[in-house]
Amino acid sequence: MLVDLRSDTLTRPTPGMRRAMAEAEVGDDVFGEDPTVNRLETRVAELLGKEAGLFVPSGTMANQIAIRVLTEPGDEVLMEADAHPFHYESGGAAVISGVTIRLVQGEGGVLSPASVAAAVRPPNVHHAPARLLSVENTSNRGGGRVSSVERCAELCAIARGAGLATHLDGARLWNSHVATGRELADFARGFDVANVCFSKGLGAPVGSMWTGPRALVDKARRVRKMLGGGMRQVGVLAAAADYALTQHLSRLADDHTRARRLWAALKELGYAVEAEPETNILFFRVPDASAFVARLKEHGVLAIPMTDTRVRMVLHLDVDDAGVAAAIEVLVRVA
Ligand SMILES: Cc1ncc(COP(=O)(O)O)c(C=O)c1O
Repeated sequence: MLVDLRSDTLTRPTPGMRRAMAEAEVGDDVFGEDPTVNRLETRVAELLGKEAGLFVPSGTMANQIAIRVLTEPGDEVLMEADAHPFHYESGGAAVISGVTIRLVQGEGGVLSPASVAAAVRPPNVHHAPARLLSVENTSNRGGGRVSSVERCAELCAIARGAGLATHLDGARLWNSHVATGRELADFARGFDVANVCFSKGLGAPVGSMWTGPRALVDKARRVRKMLGGGMRQVGVLAAAADYALTQHLSRLADDHTRARRLWAALKELGYAVEAEPETNILFFRVPDASAFVARLKEHGVLAIPMTDTRVRMVLHLDVDDAGVAAAIEVLVRVA
């Protein structure tokens, strides 16, 4: 048995999802004529409490569009020290938007209002003006940590007070919603724009939704085209996302329970675990992460060495209770 705990992006479309894709009504989405895409854009914009939505190929493109739409070249974007656009988007913000990124240290990937307030410098000709605050919820490198609805509101208030626009990278906002029982729109409320991914815990193969006021979505549509993200009969993918949203949202609670079970087992075995998972991601430390992950692989368990000493495991649709039990057996063996 292979238990793949590397990422929640590894899921494969289920038979039901494949049927939904095969039966999708499609049209040319660059012409705005794909009814399945149009329905999904409306559905998700409503869930996030925003005026309009734009279906885009990836979370990376969604984040980059947000930065492009909300800044001018020479501006500074504030984000938490573990944030995705800084670590994993190939320096895109510098190339696509001509901005600098200023990292703000949070705790477990979660920003505090005080640290954001302290990071905004007063206007001065020497500084790149801070123009945008981007918040990742849940935080991937933070161990799937949730920024609460209240925390999001506080961060947005601080940013707005300092004249900054706000962006929510909600690649895993679904997990925050399920973990806390709070509405997606409550998390997104204070943010000018918010994007969510269908290709993480929800289990769709491709796709993100970028949402905000219609005027910004119109701008975003142009940037999407510029980046080559205008897709044609893409209703086949929107159908997968729509199916995932209907069928797989509430089951994220199972991933969260399994992540906690795995974490408890690791702890009991004496592994140096980080914080107990709030959602589907957990981290622990070993002296040599690459060597450790290689040993796990020999026993059929896949994990990711995030740094030299830090191992990540992620629960998702394709790992069930038996998979968790099998992983724990291996962790006992290699401990
Ligand atoms: C928090 C976060 N934002 C954005 C992305 C980018 O998504 P994609 O892989 O679809 O480009 C990821 C990917 O894992 C992520 O974890």
